[in-house]
This record gives sequence, structure tokens and C-alpha cells, in this order.
Amino acid sequence: MDLDKIRIEAESEIEGAHDRRALEEIRVKYLGKKGIITSALKGIGGLPKEDRPAAGERINAVKVAIEEKLNHKLKVLEEKELEEKLKQEYIDITVPGRRPGLGHLHPLTIVREEITEIFMGLGFSIAEGPEIEYDYYNFEALNIPRDHPARDIQDTFYINDNIVLRTHTSPVQVRTMEKQKPPIRVIVPGRVYRSDDIDATHSPVFHQVEGLVIDRGVTMGDLKGVLSLFARQLFGEDTKTKFRPHYFPFTEPSAEMDVTCMACKGRGCRVCKGTGWIEILGSGMVHPRVLSMSGIDPNEYSGFAFGMGLDRIAMLKYGIDDLRLFFENDIRFIKQF
Ligand code: PHE
Repeated sequence: MDLDKIRIEAESEIEGAHDRRALEEIRVKYLGKKGIITSALKGIGGLPKEDRPAAGERINAVKVAIEEKLNHKLKVLEEKELEEKLKQEYIDITVPGRRPGLGHLHPLTIVREEITEIFMGLGFSIAEGPEIEYDYYNFEALNIPRDHPARDIQDTFYINDNIVLRTHTSPVQVRTMEKQKPPIRVIVPGRVYRSDDIDATHSPVFHQVEGLVIDRGVTMGDLKGVLSLFARQLFGEDTKTKFRPHYFPFTEPSAEMDVTCMACKGRGCRVCKGTGWIEILGSGMVHPRVLSMSGIDPNEYSGFAFGMGLDRIAMLKYGIDDLRLFFENDIRFIKQF
């Protein structure tokens, strides 16, 4: 048996092994129970007694050499495997993360916040009231008695004889005056209801922003000044305002405010129907009867109030031509603001 040849062969086989399984096969082939070296060791018994020690020594030397070579190769293969695994699991921590999609504010929210911020800058605070309201606050205390024709204009949702879905934010004027002594400066954003059929400019639910100022010596001049300033801040410095006489039961005198059309800058277009003006709010000096019904002495105090449609203003500001878009909440629409 040529032990040198076996060793050289084993060593080159080990060298050529590509993975641990191939290496294990080589180990079995040489060192396994029926392996070449194991058999050789077993064969020593058949040699003449005096030859046995030398033969044993030589076979063992080869066995040790092969074992060492196997162990060395095993380490090399293990390192290679680990390297490959690490390469596969490599994470580039410098790659920027994927941002989660950020939500968008609803256009009505944006405009509501803009409006309330303008008034907060003028010292107003925000007041709220219930959407399910007593007939008294929605009508009676605003100088709209039961037989008053103004009740017909506002198609009211009645819950029962005494309770309605508020048709405007004006009942919060009364609630505020009942619990707060002048000076009063409040702004009231809120949802209101009227039984209108849905179309491009009508909805049974929409939004208003109410305003109320009560103090000693408040005049129509204050009303005009505050609301003109507001219009310039909301629609731009070159916005002009115009006050037209109007009628509301709860203000006297009353006026509607027009602003120069934001679509054509007052030249006249489809949006303003060629007039150059757009009506954006109702206003007036709080009626003395409304003051006294709410416990404020009209001989000592006066004030003004105003109310505007938030939906309408948002439509004008963003050039939206269909109110229904505000309520459908199509993400493709909302994402544009
Ligand atoms: N409440 C009125 C409406 O809904 C608006 C308004 C408010 C008018 C305050 C005058 C004063 O049309």
C-alpha cells in the first residue's frame, strides 16, 4: 500500500472540496468506519509482529496529516459560508428610508384655520355651540318669532317642536352673550343644516363662521373696518369691499359684504356673473331686542355680528366649482391642497 500516494490523493481531494458536504464525504472515504485509513490500521494485525509498530506509526502519521488537512479545510469553508451569509444579509444603513404617506388637510379645514387665525390676530377667541339646538336659540332669541316669514327661507330640520338642527351659527351669539359679560369678541366656526337638495352649490349640511363683537360704543365703522381688513388678509391686499344694505331679523342695520372677484380681479367674469363683485358674508349691528333678550343692556352696549359660508369661500378661493367634492372625500381631490 502506497501511503504517500493515499496522502497526496486525499490532500488534493480535500483541496478541491467546495462545501462541507463534499468534505464530509472525503472524511468518510478515508477515516470512516470502512475508510481507507481505518482499513489499513485494521490490516496491521495481519503483518508480522516485528513490522507492526513501524507500519502503525506510518499509517497514523498519514491519518493525522489527513485529519489536520480536513480540519483546516473545514475552517476555511465555514469562514467562506459565513462571509456569503453576511453578504446576503447586508443592510445599507445609509439608504434613506421610505417615508410613510403623509395625510392632507381638507380644504375646508385649511380655510377655516386661515379665517380663525386672522380673527385671533384681532383679539377674537373661538366659541362653540351645539348642532342640535333649541328653537329658542336658533330663532326666537334672534328676533325670529314662530310666525316670522324668515323661518320659511331657512328650510329647517325639526327634531320636535322645540328642537332643530341649527340652520346657522347665529344661536351661538345668544349662548355667548348669556354667559359672558362684554367686551365680547368671538368667532364661531361650525356645521349647520338646511333641508336643501344636493347640487353643485347646495348641501343639507354645510359650514359657517360666525362673528360677534359687543362693547361700549361699537359702531358700523368698526364693522366695516374689521371685515374689510379680514377680506384683505384672506383674499389679498388689493381686495376691495362693498357693503350693500340687506335684511336680517337679528341685526339692524344689516348689510351684505361683497369683495372684488378673485377670479378676474374685478374686471367681470363667469364666476362673478360679469359684475366684478362676489358676495361673501352677511352682517349688521346686533338688534337691540337680541341684546336685551340675552341679558345685555342695549342702552349701555352695542355690537356687530357677521356670518359667512365656509364652503362657498373655500370654493371661491380654490376655484372649486362643485360643492359635492368637499363631502365625497376622494383622496385624489384632497391631495391637491
Ligand atoms: N345667520 C345669517 C345666515 O345664516 C348670517 C348672519 C350672521 C347675518 C350674523 C348677520 C349677522 O345667513
